[in-house]
Amino acid sequence: MEREYQGPDSRAVRQMFTGIAHRYDFLNHFLSASIDRYWRRITVNKVRELIGASPFALCLDACSGTGDLALALHRGLKTGVVGSDFCHPMLTRANAKIAASGVGNRIRNIEADTLALPFAPGSFDAVTIAFGLRNLENPRLGLEEMRRVLKPGGAAVVLEFSKPIVPVFRHVFNFYFRYVLPRLGAAISGDGTAYQYLPDSVRKFPAQIELMELMQEVGFKDAAYCNLSGGIAALHWGRKG
Ligand SMILES: C[S@@+](CC[C@H](N)C(=O)[O-])C[C@H]1O[C@@H](n2cnc3c(N)ncnc32)[C@H](O)[C@@H]1O
Repeated sequence: MEREYQGPDSRAVRQMFTGIAHRYDFLNHFLSASIDRYWRRITVNKVRELIGASPFALCLDACSGTGDLALALHRGLKTGVVGSDFCHPMLTRANAKIAASGVGNRIRNIEADTLALPFAPGSFDAVTIAFGLRNLENPRLGLEEMRRVLKPGGAAVVLEFSKPIVPVFRHVFNFYFRYVLPRLGAAISGDGTAYQYLPDSVRKFPAQIELMELMQEVGFKDAAYCNLSGGIAALHWGRKG
């Protein structure tokens, strides 16, 4: 049997995001030609489909980083949102954006490790994680934690880079992702390794079906996925039964 994917060392990940936090948002939008905004919108729509839009619902956005998905969730669904991340400089940026957006205390951030979430079982109606699962040292444990803090019937939604499925497009994209993006990222962020780590980690991360199976093994019911932009990214979801 193939060995289960193990993610990168947590301390190295925190250090890497500390180093690029100041350029993270700009590079996200620039390197993806802003497609990341569209993917987050689809993520919000999926959460709406799974739990509805209610000001009384509470979502957790794990590995929330600079808070773009937390903000999109609140704007799209009017829910309360807790953003959690273990990288202080990323959360500092998120806090500034949330303060500037005028949403008051409807979005709260907390510095926490997704592998040991400081919440009681059954605390949230939905838990999201965008481009975070691949960065966890132990993605299975991360999914278990996400499931633990969900209410029964609550939904987990995972947005992550995946494996392009369209043959010719796959080669063009892989060329950009492996050779062009790391150089642009290094030049703009001043960090030579972070944007090499991105394609390397995506290559090692489980493909669409394997991730869906991992979610099923962890206990998510009705686990399913859809490809985004030809499989450059994928959205996975499941419910706590
Ligand atoms: C690629 S960024 C994604 C940020 C945000 N979700 C987005 O969509 O832009 C990954 C984030 O995961 C966080 N992260 C990685 N491992 C973590 C862990 N074990 N606990 C909490 N945060 C973690 C990093 O600090 C970083 O902010």
